[in-house]
Amino acid sequence: MSESTEIKIRALGDTKLFQPIQVGSNTLNQRIAFAPTTRRRATEDHTPVDLELEYYTKRAQAPGTLIITEATFASPQGSGSSRVPGIFTEKHVQAWKKINDSIHREGSFSSIQLWHLGRAADPKNLKDKGLPFLAPSAAYINEESEQNAIKAGNELRAFTLEEIKDLVNNQYPTAAKNALAAGFDYIELHSAHGYTLSQFLNPVSNKRTDEYGGSIENRARLILEIVDKLIPIVGANRLAIRLSPWATFQTSAPEGEEIHTYILKELEKRADQGNELAYVSLVEPRVSGNADVDKDKQQGNNDFANKIWKGKLIKAGNYTYDAPDFKDLLRDIEDNRTLIGFSRFFTSNPDLVNRLKHGYPLLKYDRDTFYNPNNWGYNTYNNHDETEVFDEKKEQGRVGVALA
Ligand SMILES: Cc1cc2nc3c(=O)[nH]c(=O)nc-3n(C[C@H](O)[C@H](O)[C@H](O)COP(=O)(O)O)c2cc1C
Repeated sequence: MSESTEIKIRALGDTKLFQPIQVGSNTLNQRIAFAPTTRRRATEDHTPVDLELEYYTKRAQAPGTLIITEATFASPQGSGSSRVPGIFTEKHVQAWKKINDSIHREGSFSSIQLWHLGRAADPKNLKDKGLPFLAPSAAYINEESEQNAIKAGNELRAFTLEEIKDLVNNQYPTAAKNALAAGFDYIELHSAHGYTLSQFLNPVSNKRTDEYGGSIENRARLILEIVDKLIPIVGANRLAIRLSPWATFQTSAPEGEEIHTYILKELEKRADQGNELAYVSLVEPRVSGNADVDKDKQQGNNDFANKIWKGKLIKAGNYTYDAPDFKDLLRDIEDNRTLIGFSRFFTSNPDLVNRLKHGYPLLKYDRDTFYNPNNWGYNTYNNHDETEVFDEKKEQGRVGVALA
């Protein structure tokens, strides 16, 4: 392996990163999470496959690691993209159960990230399933989405109040119950990166004039209603939320600090009443979606969140940028309640936890294989001490088989 395919790191085994931490009612052995990472290996009916079982099991190999799944469709209405897993049929539940059993056998824990696409869906994909293309308001992400919607005969329209109630009273609770039946330890609401829940927070995508639009309280109403609905169903100690205050992924302006200050204060109120969520996951301004943000374009920071939210935090976003030293990482975990999420380096280093512990070099990831349907660039990465050579053609020919 040439030097350029690796990055050198220092061993972090003797730092706080490798001290246990309680999250909800579980104790993790180290403060590391696999951040949610969409890889599009599921079947067209959104059932997780054997390749995913192998992939997640390997990344759970260091006992006491938190594995957060790739974003997973909460409901058919929230779908609209191919080969993404779901948690809305019995088949999905059975398939995820196999993956969770395997993660638990490794001594690790799992969190499902519940996804609803809203205006980020492919309108044709929804149309083919007889489903409408819905968002907080009929404001397209871009011209291309609008053209696709017109061509598909499925133009974007605003959720009716009844459809919003259905998200709160039906779609999310059903997904959460299914997730519990599938054995997940935690349920994370994806309220980041310009998907439905984040679209409600952002005035760029939310132009409603009813109680779900306009003021900060109104824009944050949906996410808090879902949180309040799910607390008695799953228990606050199993519930989590992901927010991206600074991301401009799929939007022209970030959501910013003010609305997140309000949301975190509201979550803190619930914590004071004995309902502290398991964790709040924050995307750092160094990244937006699945890519780095140039240093001169980075805006804001998440320090405000630490001042309000007193529970556990997971922060993710290019924490390897200052390797081998990891100064930012070490500073951010100083508070004894922050975990660090890794996404891209977990794709190419199944034993990332071990590598961080011992200071073994990290293999660089391959963006070209992030969303391919086959096994090349998926289960073709070795642990530090393994030397298996994979046949590219053969692995490209290997696609997943439904687990149920
Ligand atoms: C291929 C890929 C897929 C991703 N999928 C998701 C996702 O499903 N849900 C989500 O909240 N973030 C997703 N992200 C963002 C990551 O969770 C993470 O915030 C980001 O990659 C920064 O972390 P990193 O620097 O460790 O990669 C994705 C990132 C990548 C690279």
